[in-house]
Amino acid sequence: MTIRNLVLVGFMGTGKSTIGKRLAERLGWAFIDTDALIEQQQSMTISEMFRVHGEAFFRSVESRTIDEVLAGEGQVLATGGGAVLAEANRSSMLRNGYVVALKASAEVIIKRVAEDQGRPLLQGDLKERVNTLMKQRKHAYDFAHLIIDTSALDVDPIVELILEETRRKG
Ligand code: S3P
Repeated sequence: MTIRNLVLVGFMGTGKSTIGKRLAERLGWAFIDTDALIEQQQSMTISEMFRVHGEAFFRSVESRTIDEVLAGEGQVLATGGGAVLAEANRSSMLRNGYVVALKASAEVIIKRVAEDQGRPLLQGDLKERVNTLMKQRKHAYDFAHLIIDTSALDVDPIVELILEETRRKG
């Protein structure tokens, strides 16, 4: 199997962007953050999009963006935490790339996202929001080819682990 793209999925704050950037550097591939791409294409932040057009609008733009990006190859994608909720997105990811799910404990996630106000689904009581969404999405990331818990690991060992697995597959 030749890997066309590397797709990182996982709950908010699991390290998709940080690890994705480093992976892309190591592979000499392009790094694409689908949230950032959507914000650029829509000329507004994700928070504004949720507020002005609603979550359903964001989800449809998100699906279209994932499809468009995955038509290419040699890319590391960091996807939004909810991108895996649509079956069409999951199958597109599995078909067009090697999917890596990053996991972390609720405590670690809460610490990592606490300073960032840019996540509309985490507004209000942060602890409650993270716990509720994590419960709802308990198995949402299980479809990935590889699952890694990032709670206790530094970026470099995670990147090495993923590279090792992709070499084995590629
Ligand atoms: C979301 C996660 C966010 C972003 C949007 C919705 C989610 O991305 O796509 O706020 O539903 O989990 P990150 O996982 O990069 O924070």
